[in-house]
Amino acid sequence: MNANAIAPSTAQSKATVIFTCVLAALAGLMFGLDIGVISGATQFIQDEFKASDHTIEWIVSAMMFGAAVGAVGAGWLSAALGRKRSLILGAVLFVLGSLLSGLAWSPETLVAARVVLGLAIGLATFTAPLYLAEVAPEHIRGAMISTYQLMITIGILVAFLSDTALSYSGNWRWMLGIIAIPGALFLLGVLLLPDSPRWLLMRGRREEALGVLHRLRGDAAVVAREAADIEEQLKTPQRGWHLFRENRNFRRSVGLGVLLQLMQQFTGMNVVMYYAPRIFQAMGYDTTTQMWFTALVGLTNVLATFIAIALIDRWGRKPILYTGFAVMAVGLGVVGTMMHGGIHDHGAQIFTVAMLLVFIVGFAMSAGPLVWTLCSEIQPLKGRDFGIGCSTFTNWIGNLVVGFTFLSLLNGIGNAATFWLYAALNVVFIALTFWLVPETKGVTLEQIERNLMGGKRLREIGR
Ligand code: BGC
Repeated sequence: MNANAIAPSTAQSKATVIFTCVLAALAGLMFGLDIGVISGATQFIQDEFKASDHTIEWIVSAMMFGAAVGAVGAGWLSAALGRKRSLILGAVLFVLGSLLSGLAWSPETLVAARVVLGLAIGLATFTAPLYLAEVAPEHIRGAMISTYQLMITIGILVAFLSDTALSYSGNWRWMLGIIAIPGALFLLGVLLLPDSPRWLLMRGRREEALGVLHRLRGDAAVVAREAADIEEQLKTPQRGWHLFRENRNFRRSVGLGVLLQLMQQFTGMNVVMYYAPRIFQAMGYDTTTQMWFTALVGLTNVLATFIAIALIDRWGRKPILYTGFAVMAVGLGVVGTMMHGGIHDHGAQIFTVAMLLVFIVGFAMSAGPLVWTLCSEIQPLKGRDFGIGCSTFTNWIGNLVVGFTFLSLLNGIGNAATFWLYAALNVVFIALTFWLVPETKGVTLEQIERNLMGGKRLREIGR
């Protein structure tokens, strides 16, 4: 086959790449919709089923449980079925899970539907970044990964807005069911995606891989070089579990990925994502205001993500993390103090809301995007899939614990102490960042890997 004959024009291939990446990033949107959609619905679900706070914790957290399972299965599925088919499966489960949530006839069915949604999102959160990294050309790869986090925050915002609009009628079924529509669009889009060229090469389907690369890149020389690069890389087989058992240095990087995700989750961010209306209720606001403030939380989350995107390659990872954890500690500490003293007048209410938003800015400008970036940077090539699988799994387990305990904490130790607890954890994370987190700005992945495997201290593997 004459390569030039099938090479499309550069403009056409650029369009293919953009289309591909937009669609894969829509997986981020699904992630966000899934996280955000429940917060506005809980109050109405609680009214209809006369559900206890504990039952609500189950309903909220079932999704995270499913996601943890989905993330574990995703490594295997995306190797066996391929990235594209894993994404299709994720999309189908997403649509089914949303419809079932909307139709749920008991708290138990709602829990089951949320597990299905979780499976979908666990699959997608593992597979989409992998797919993105495999199809995006080198020079836009970094931007594509940030786009993914941005899409997560946009998904959360859209879910908050749709919940707010539907809150006037109190129709939680529509709130939960309506996300089947973006799910179905995502499914249609994913059906049009090409298979990942890297996966095709992994499977020995070289002709097809070259065909896809031609569609994506257009230029025969680029295609040949990239195919050769991928084939070279594939000579290093993924042997994560063995490596984990044999190699202490790899255990250190896996441990660091796990720790980073625990830090991200125990900032307390998802407490606000899942229970914002409830928090605003504790500040003394009525239902409508609770919902609008929740939407404001979502908007702040989107906007502050741009701070991270702008700073990540200028300031570096560690300064951003220090700043973010410090801002979060102050924000939550003050919210706790206000709740402790009692929020009696309008001024105090607004001030407390503002401090909660300060906390959101702290997260979105730092741990939100950066933890995902760092987790993909620190793993050595032969254990990358395994390492990222472990950290993604931890993300969902941490998320589960946070979601499952918040209302019990409020009821047990009280509002103020709950917020102080999370504030204190953020202070601890400043110290952990200092001791254990490397600065990876401007360092090649190969250099990081050499340092790690050479036994350098974790915080120095980026030097
Ligand atoms: C986290 C999610 C969180 C979201 C908020 C992501 O990076 O992993 O747990 O809900 O950010 O924007």
